[in-house]
This record gives sequence, structure tokens and C-alpha cells, in this order.
Amino acid sequence: MQIKKRDKHMWFDENLDDLPLGKKIYDRQLLKRMLPLVKPFKLRILGGGLILVVSSGLGLLPPLLLKRAIDVNIAGSDFNGLLITVGLYVLLQLATFGVNYLMLVVLESLGVRIVSSLKEQLFGHMLGLDIAYFDQHPVGRLIARVESDTEAIRRLFTSTMFTVLGAVVSLAGMVLIMMKVSLPLFLAISTLVPVIFLLTILFQKKVRPLFLVVRKKYAEIVAYLTEMIQGMKVIQAFSRESAVKQKMAQLNRSYIKTLLPADVLTMGFFSLVGVFEIIGLAIILTVGGNMVAQGLLTIGAMVLFLGYLRQFFMPVYAFSEQVGIMQRAFAAAQRVFEIMDIEPRVINAASGGNWDNFKNSIEFQDVDFSYVTRAGNDEPDWVLRDINFTITKGEKIALVGATGGGKSSIINLMLRFYDPQAGRISIDGIDIKEIPIDKLRRHFGLVLQDVFLFPGTVRENLTLGEEMTGEQLDRAVEILGLQRILDKMPSGLESELAERGANLSQGERQLVSFARALAFDPQILILDEATSSVDPMSERLIQQGIRRLLEGRTAVIVAHRLSTILDADKIMVIHKGRIVESGRHSELLEKNGYYAKLYRIQFA
Ligand SMILES: Nc1ncnc2c1ncn2[C@@H]1O[C@H](COP(=O)(O)OP(=O)(O)O)[C@@H](O)[C@H]1O
Ligand SMILES: [Mg+2]
Repeated sequence: MQIKKRDKHMWFDENLDDLPLGKKIYDRQLLKRMLPLVKPFKLRILGGGLILVVSSGLGLLPPLLLKRAIDVNIAGSDFNGLLITVGLYVLLQLATFGVNYLMLVVLESLGVRIVSSLKEQLFGHMLGLDIAYFDQHPVGRLIARVESDTEAIRRLFTSTMFTVLGAVVSLAGMVLIMMKVSLPLFLAISTLVPVIFLLTILFQKKVRPLFLVVRKKYAEIVAYLTEMIQGMKVIQAFSRESAVKQKMAQLNRSYIKTLLPADVLTMGFFSLVGVFEIIGLAIILTVGGNMVAQGLLTIGAMVLFLGYLRQFFMPVYAFSEQVGIMQRAFAAAQRVFEIMDIEPRVINAASGGNWDNFKNSIEFQDVDFSYVTRAGNDEPDWVLRDINFTITKGEKIALVGATGGGKSSIINLMLRFYDPQAGRISIDGIDIKEIPIDKLRRHFGLVLQDVFLFPGTVRENLTLGEEMTGEQLDRAVEILGLQRILDKMPSGLESELAERGANLSQGERQLVSFARALAFDPQILILDEATSSVDPMSERLIQQGIRRLLEGRTAVIVAHRLSTILDADKIMVIHKGRIVESGRHSELLEKNGYYAKLYRIQFA
């Protein structure tokens, strides 16, 4: 079995094609655009910064107190003074714990807020994009945008910002104190800094590409798992278990093979860091010890240097670690903004449009439509050509014809999921482009062949969160005979449906989707092959419901089984994007054309 490297599996990680490798560490333009995103949190950020400065400052004090204890209290045999210093030391440590805890809380709440506001903005923008956008962008990639990219940006504004700030504050403080206490000793251990710095950069350069591959391999494993679990039924039906298992083992081996060298390198680096601390310690003890012997340095001062040793090298590692986070954050921000910049192709009417209610008719005039607009002067792949028809209020119109003819596309245009390249679609004489989209769609009830049920209760699936009276719901349930199904469930309308309604049969799902359409009480009902995947028995049941559903409404029905549309007011035969015939059943039969042929095939 092949692993398909399609994007939709890559959602659990960033888009792997544009991972930060070689990207800018700092991008002013992008940062400028990111600032407004975090602007609402500027007070919190400021507060976090202040606490951080205090916390970094507090971190500088313990070695100073140690020095005092040794040089002043102990050297002066001042036991009371020593007690005070020790008391201060303990208090200081407690205070540091408190402040650090407060900082964690502030950072966490800041991070959570930033990330949820980002997600809301991004998802809000996606909700406004047209269906064409979702046709072209795999779900997985979009989820990655909303999930991991926002997370990367959050880290920039919490972890990175504060780590860097904290490192700067404590480094500056330490340098000042150490220089003041003993310039020569400070210079002596400073010689290590450039070495560590270079080493860290070298390490990062070497290890980052390795981890990139590791992540890719990891992504492959997750992709494989996702597919295999989704396709479990097929795997078991065809007894592919052992092959699948082998493939998984192979993927795992390849993952380990890339992971281990990266890990080994990382561990090596951190061991080396330990070595530098030992070298630093040696320098302080020899150089400092010598100075103590010569009376140039107090023992307390030497202990102070020892106390700062670890903290002194920390910022160097911290900075280099943040580089990766920054690169990732900027790459993420770029992708987030790419989405934010996309304008829907179906442009919503700004406001008003003096249309509220369907009164007379829906009309298609000379409509041409293609899903793909080709660049240049190339003729697009027309899906619909010269579509002209009128639906008068109260009529039941049927669309028939071979698959791929363009029936669903006509419906897509009517609901403005797409806009046609040419021609005009109007409702009561008003171009539907001039009617706010939600106002327009509110009057349509759409039932598709593939029923989409959300995880949640039956009630939630019927109302979709809209306020509805119990009466409204009861009527929908009653008319479609949904009660039979609800009776089988543990708690009626409040019963939980599995994802996509997996605990219902196809016919039951279809009934729920009809009830959903009815609950919204639409003026115009659109059934796109709504009963095609239902067995004839269920279909008959559904048909009874549909008949009542259609009472007093305008309807557009796409059906393969002609028995369901014999009494339509008008039947339009759609073939290769054109309306090739239209009329009543009897008229079309008389014509002895395309429709008559279809009819004979089904009823011969
Ligand atoms: N989202 C889409 N993007 C590109 N082409 C599409 C899309 N949906 C449908 N098509 C194409 O448009 C043509 C008409 O499709 P459709 O209207 O769904 O046919 P029908 O509903 O009559 O079976 C088909 O050739 C199909 O491949
Ligand atoms: Mg269709």
C-alpha cells in the first residue's frame, strides 16, 4: 500500500514544504502586520514584561547575599548579621518562587488569549470565503493554519519575547555586578562566551535540518495511521493487516534512523554545555583562587562568580533556541496572512437590497459558468452554457440528465456558492448579487445526497443552533415520520449522534436532513439527488414525507429515479451543460427525445 503524500494529512504539522529552513529570522514587514493582532493584549504584555524584569532582577540577588554572608557576616564573626542575611536569602527565594509563579500565570493567560483571538479571526475569515476556495484547499492544510500556525505565533509573543527580555535583563545585571566586583575575573570567564556562541550556532545549523527530516518522517507515520484507520474496513475485508503492519514497521524504522542521529547530536551538545560550566568553574577557581591568595579578591566575591556561572551562559543558549521559534513564527504568520488576504470571489452585497421574501420567480438568463477560470484568453471549461429558465413561485421543477451534466452546478449558482461568468440570475427581478447572501440563502432549504450530520444531539442537528420553537421541530419530526427513529433512541431528540451520524442508517440520516430543511421552513426547497442513496422502501417512506414537505413550497428537485418527478410542473433535461429539453412529463414523452429515452430505460 502506498502512502499518498497529499497535503490533507499534513495538518498535524506545519506545511512541510515551507518549513523555516533558510527563512528570515526576523521580518520587519511581517512583524508590523502581526502587531495589531496582539495589540488588544498590550496591557497584559506590559504587565508580563514588568513581572519578568522583577523576576530577572530577583534572580540576580542570591549570589550577592551569599557574598555578604561570607565576606561580611562570617568574616566579621557576626552571627546575628548572618542570621539576618540567611533570613533575607530564604525570603528572597520564596519571593522569587511567588513572582515566577505569577509570571507563569500571566504568560499562560496571555498566550491562551492571543491564540484564541487569532484562531477566531482566522476562522471567521474562512467562514466568509466562498466554496471555490474550499474546493481548492485541502482540509488538512486549513486546519494546520488554524491550529499550529496560530500556536507558532503565540510562542513568538510569549515564550520568545519574554525569554529574550529576561535574558537581556539578567545578562546586563550580571555583567554590571561582576564587572564591579572584579573586572579581571569577569574578563577571564568572558573569554568562553564567543566560543559557546559559535558552538551553539554551529550546532543549530547542523541539527535543524536533521529535525526537519525527523518531523517529515513523523508526519508520514501519522498520515499513514490516519489513512489506515479510516480505511480499516477495506484493510480487513481484503486481509491486508500484515502488509499494513509491515509498512508501518518500515516507516518506523526510517523514522528512528533519522531521529537517533539528531538526538545523539543534541545530547552531545548539551553534554558539551556541561563541560563549559566545568571549564568556567576551573577558571574561577584558579584565577579567582589566585587572586584571593594575593588579597585581590574576597572569598565571597569568588563564590558570587560561581553563583552566576550557570546563569551567565544561559542567555547564549536561550537566544539561539529562540531563533528557530522565530523562524517558525514568521513562516506561520506569512501563511496566516495569506489566508487573511484572500477576498471571497463571491462578493456579498454590502447591505439592503430591497428583497426580503420570495414573491414571484427565479430566473436564469443566458448563464454561462465554469468552476475554473483559466489564465489568459483560453476558453474556460464551461460547465453550464446558455442556461435560461424561469421558476414561478409554487412550481415544482425537476432537473434530470446524466451525471456530470451540470444539475448540481445550477443549484450552486442559485444559492450563490459560485457566481456565473456570464448572464444573470435574479429573484423577483432583482439580481441575486444585489441581495445579501444570508438573506438570500435563508429562503432556501437544501437537501443533498450526502447528508452531513454534525456530532451532537438530533435536536442540534435539526436546528443547527438556530432558535426554534418546539412546535416547529415537532412539526418537522411529525411530517417526516422521524418519530419512529427517535423512539429507538435512548433520549429522543436529545440523543447524541455519532460523527457524521454513523449510528444511523443511510435512510435515517436522510430523514434527519429532510427534517432539518423543514424545520427551517424554507420558501424554496432544493433536493439534489436527496433520495438517490436510499433503498426503495425507505424512499417510499421519505417520498410521503417529501410530498407534505413540498406542499405550498417552490421546489427544485434533482432526481435520477424519474418516478419521483412525474408530476413536476416542469422537467428540464440537462445534458453537457445545456438545457436540451424542457416541459411536462407528457410533453417530453411526446417529443420522443432525450427524456423519452431516459424514461424508457427506467420503465421498460
Ligand atoms: N467544485 C468543482 N470544481 C470543478 N469542477 C466541478 C466542480 N463540481 C463539479 N464540477 C464539474 O462540473 C461538471 C458538472 O457537475 P455537476 O453540476 O455536479 O453535475 P451533475 O450534478 O449534473 O451530476 C462536471 O463535469 C464536474 O466534473
Ligand atoms: Mg449532482
